[in-house]
Amino acid sequence: MAQFLFLCLTKTNFYKFLVMCGIVAYVGQQDALPIIIKGLKRLEYRGYDSAGVALLDQRGLSIYKKKGKVAELEKFLEETGDIHANVGIGHTRWATHGEPNDVNAHPHYSSSERFAMIHNGIIENYEVLKKDLLQKGYTFQSETDTEVFVKFIEDIYQHNGCSLEEALRLALHKVVGAYAIVLINLEEPNTLIAARKGSPLVIGVGEKEYFFASDATPIIEYTNKVVYLDDYEIAVVRNGELQIKTIENVETNPYINQLEMELEAIEKGGYEHFMLKEIFEQPKSIADCLRGRLDAKSGRLVLGGLREYMNKFQNAERIIITACGTSWHAGLVAEYLFEEFARIPVEVEYASEFRYRNPVINEKDFVIAISQSGETADTLAAIELAKSRGATIFGVCNVVGSSIPRTTHAGSYTHAGPEIGVASTKAFTAQISVLAMMALKLGYQRGTLPESTYIQLLHELAAIPAKVEKALQTNALVEKIAAEYKDARNMLYLGRGYNFPVALEGALKLKEISYIHAEGYPAAEMKHGPIALIDEEMPVIFIATQDSSYEKVVSNIQEVKARKGKIVAVVTEGDTQVKALADHVIEVPLTHEAFTPLLSVVPLQLFSYHIAVMRGCNVDQPRNLAKSVTVE
Ligand code: AGP
Ligand code: GLU
Repeated sequence: MAQFLFLCLTKTNFYKFLVMCGIVAYVGQQDALPIIIKGLKRLEYRGYDSAGVALLDQRGLSIYKKKGKVAELEKFLEETGDIHANVGIGHTRWATHGEPNDVNAHPHYSSSERFAMIHNGIIENYEVLKKDLLQKGYTFQSETDTEVFVKFIEDIYQHNGCSLEEALRLALHKVVGAYAIVLINLEEPNTLIAARKGSPLVIGVGEKEYFFASDATPIIEYTNKVVYLDDYEIAVVRNGELQIKTIENVETNPYINQLEMELEAIEKGGYEHFMLKEIFEQPKSIADCLRGRLDAKSGRLVLGGLREYMNKFQNAERIIITACGTSWHAGLVAEYLFEEFARIPVEVEYASEFRYRNPVINEKDFVIAISQSGETADTLAAIELAKSRGATIFGVCNVVGSSIPRTTHAGSYTHAGPEIGVASTKAFTAQISVLAMMALKLGYQRGTLPESTYIQLLHELAAIPAKVEKALQTNALVEKIAAEYKDARNMLYLGRGYNFPVALEGALKLKEISYIHAEGYPAAEMKHGPIALIDEEMPVIFIATQDSSYEKVVSNIQEVKARKGKIVAVVTEGDTQVKALADHVIEVPLTHEAFTPLLSVVPLQLFSYHIAVMRGCNVDQPRNLAKSVTVE
């Protein structure tokens, strides 16, 4: 099982500059273009403003690029004719400098058109560099920082009369910002040169062939051997050999990791959308997350990553959880879990606020950073800040080998498998599963959770995958209810206790994929404002499962009903009280209230999915969003 790596973070705070985009490159014996196109499609979640490739064959180095999605580029390439090359680079862009159009699309040529480059990141000092180059007579076609970057490299190359990698190395000492880049050189047809600082870059090692990509998904089909390039490293593949050096010119030994990901995991497997597939995968993804860690019968609960830090965890004066978006919602659930079971005060922080607030934090704090992608810029920056103040940082991440697991002291992977849909679903439930295990372990060790309750909770948690399976059986009913509300302009999501974060998550899911405005609130807060919104036009989604706040939520439902709001309620199987009040009820199985979010969120995921489909929205790639938010 992959373990989190322990790595000291000594680099400066550059994460705030990271941006999305996907890069793919290939050099070997195969036809490069189909490999690159397929890879770009897998990386499209990272950005979909434009796509382009540069291919090197006997005729020379040619660039093909188009505004829009990879499919547009594919169409364009088909019209262009038969193109075959054994070496090439490709890019799917999330624009930072210059609008998304054909010219600004990557790859970019150097001035002589001898080199072409793809780039994920931002070069902050590009204006200064550009000014210098303009003075030297260089001209620019695009508005991008990337074109400046590649022309700057060529300028050094020409001026110093050195190799391309040496020119790149010298250039990297001068550029400020973040990058993952791959360069292709007309004069060296069996060569690719790459470098990384801040933005991710994985190298797939095949039989005399190499793949470069922003994550492992374009590579997995061809090889399971990968090298994660580190910051300030330059990789050169030449004539079938990989060499890695630091930008100080010190050769390093590439460490080859074995990927555990399987190809089926990144394909749709008969589902219309990745999001639906991922929602339906939850019984398995939660089981995968619990597997090998939790054994209810023997009362065994082991989180490998925690072992070394259990002492710190147990004795922490405070737990600080930092994350963004859905992962932040999982953090809110964890706040209830840790406080209830382990009696340690918890603060849950938006990483973006935490990092700029000069927070009071010290070595007695235990910081948990939650992230599906492991690449979120704000979360990375929050980690760095907490780390610089001496806190212990524990990561809860899904993407193996991503930046967060590589910068934290320790962590636990969620093992949910690749999540491709931009709207997070199975990662959320896997995060809660890991956090629940952590809270149980901590409570037991600290003696705040009596053994009998601990064992009972372990059994309850182990039973969750089967109960999620049952919750998924509401799909047809949820689809019917969704049809009634698909044209709503606003919705309100209300829940209490453990289900308050679920209300937030339900509202976020609806907003991001169906573009309907939705608000999540603690149900009791309704009276302090949102109740003014309620009329017969306003659907209110209640999470009203059997738990300690059930009766209170029933009162809130009555308040909405009295004002003629439409009520959809997620309830526990067999409920009669809410059924008598609500317009629609969706039943989920009974569990301990601490674990209800794992069940109650399922119909809400399905509800937003069906509404988005009915409204003709792009469910897997909603507008303006990207899966890894590597820009602050
Ligand atoms: C979830 O549906 C969102 N797309 C988004 O809020 C996401 O959860 C957030 O960007 C955090 O991402 P991370 O978990 O990869 O850090
Ligand atoms: N800064 C570059 C641009 O805007 C790269 C952005 C990206 O990572 O896609 O073109």
